[in-house]
Amino acid sequence: MSSDFIAAFEAKTPGSRRLNDRSHQLTPGGISHDSRFTPPYPLYVSRAQGSKIWDVDGNRYHDLWMAHYDAILGHAPAVVVEKLKTVMEDGLHIGLAMEHEVKLAQKVVDMMPGAEQVRFCASGTEATMYAVRLARGFTGRDVILKMVGGWHGANTDLMIDVRPPEYIGPESAGLPPDLNTYTRSVQFNDIEDTARGIAEAGDNLAGIIMEVAMGSTGFLPAEPEYLAFVREETAKRGAVLIFDEVITGFRLAPGGAQEVVGVTPDLTTLGKVMGGGMPVGAIAGKAEIMSLSGVTPKRPKLERVLIGGGTYSCNPLTMVAGLTTLDILHSRQNEIYPALEQMGVQLAAGMKDAFQAVGIPVFVNQNGSLVEVHFPKEDGLPLRNMADLVNNTYRDKQGEYATRLRNHGVFLIHGGSLSLEHTQADIEDIIQAHRTVAAEMAAELETETGAGN
Ligand SMILES: Cc1ncc(COP(=O)(O)O)c(C=O)c1O
Repeated sequence: MSSDFIAAFEAKTPGSRRLNDRSHQLTPGGISHDSRFTPPYPLYVSRAQGSKIWDVDGNRYHDLWMAHYDAILGHAPAVVVEKLKTVMEDGLHIGLAMEHEVKLAQKVVDMMPGAEQVRFCASGTEATMYAVRLARGFTGRDVILKMVGGWHGANTDLMIDVRPPEYIGPESAGLPPDLNTYTRSVQFNDIEDTARGIAEAGDNLAGIIMEVAMGSTGFLPAEPEYLAFVREETAKRGAVLIFDEVITGFRLAPGGAQEVVGVTPDLTTLGKVMGGGMPVGAIAGKAEIMSLSGVTPKRPKLERVLIGGGTYSCNPLTMVAGLTTLDILHSRQNEIYPALEQMGVQLAAGMKDAFQAVGIPVFVNQNGSLVEVHFPKEDGLPLRNMADLVNNTYRDKQGEYATRLRNHGVFLIHGGSLSLEHTQADIEDIIQAHRTVAAEMAAELETETGAGN
């Protein structure tokens, strides 16, 4: 494969290279968040506004990464920034209870179907850690099932089978040796495999954690029969169904993916959009389960589920940015979600046409304002879960596609998300960049085939 596109990226971004060279001396691997490392080195940005980001060399990009899919109102929305300025004058982080957190909790309970009660923390990783602990504490059982390929943050409990095929089994060194005794994985959208996992856990099944649109698979949706199956099986066995809505919460609908599919979990984990650009996580769910984490009434410690700690939980900047964002999403829902959906449909169609026009098979999964391009080995192969993606697509083409897009002014890492700040002109530019990238990739394929003859 030609590496011209890497050379083009390097020529455009010398400032990023310099910063990453320095960072390598200071930070292992040169970056603190692994997924921001995109070969040959991460893009270093200096600012973001609306639907655009600027790198340290002054290049402007249409952003589809949107702060890990968080910035649904666009980058630095004036209404949130102005609110934050006034709140900052009353103290940055005070570390005591404030009215803001009561208001945000009320908003989450009003918007999210499965949220009878909520507790805040500072990241989605903490939220999934606590949700698993609640499921085990509530049921008094041990086994949690997760989906093969499911990413729920780097929380130790769920570090199994995250990045197949390379990482089937424990995801990292340094994990407890018996981790996969208590956390096991099943294949998303595969009733037979999930029934096997449930049967093997037997009466020790504490719960199932899953996304309704799975981030690591490019937001592939859970099929209705699969959702009905997991809901019914967990209810029948008194196990806890956890929907991880860290990505989808408030993004796919005011009440998240659970509102879209009409299936209510026992617990929901939240993050990203809910923080309005500030660090956040939350566990929400049935009062019967959530209440086990309360400090009152006082209970023996093994009858309580410890949630909390977290010096920065409920910090006022997060609570106010989150509340301002959710207020907008809630009050203007009839305008916002259809508009995002319509843009998503238009973008996905444009992406698909761009590749089809040059004869490259492509599968564009669009779920509301979330989109991802996959490169199937042939048209028509099933793409319903991580096993299908591993077996039926060229996973390595996605990195090449993303780097080539950067060279033409569009930024994404894996998957893309739209915001209220993306305009019609942005969408057209992004589609045009896809046409250019598709033509480059087709030309490259032709050269490769020619070279093989
Ligand atoms: C589905 C899902 N759950 C949990 C997390 C972890 O959230 P955070 O990065 O805020 O810790 C992520 C992060 O990307 C996620 O996508």
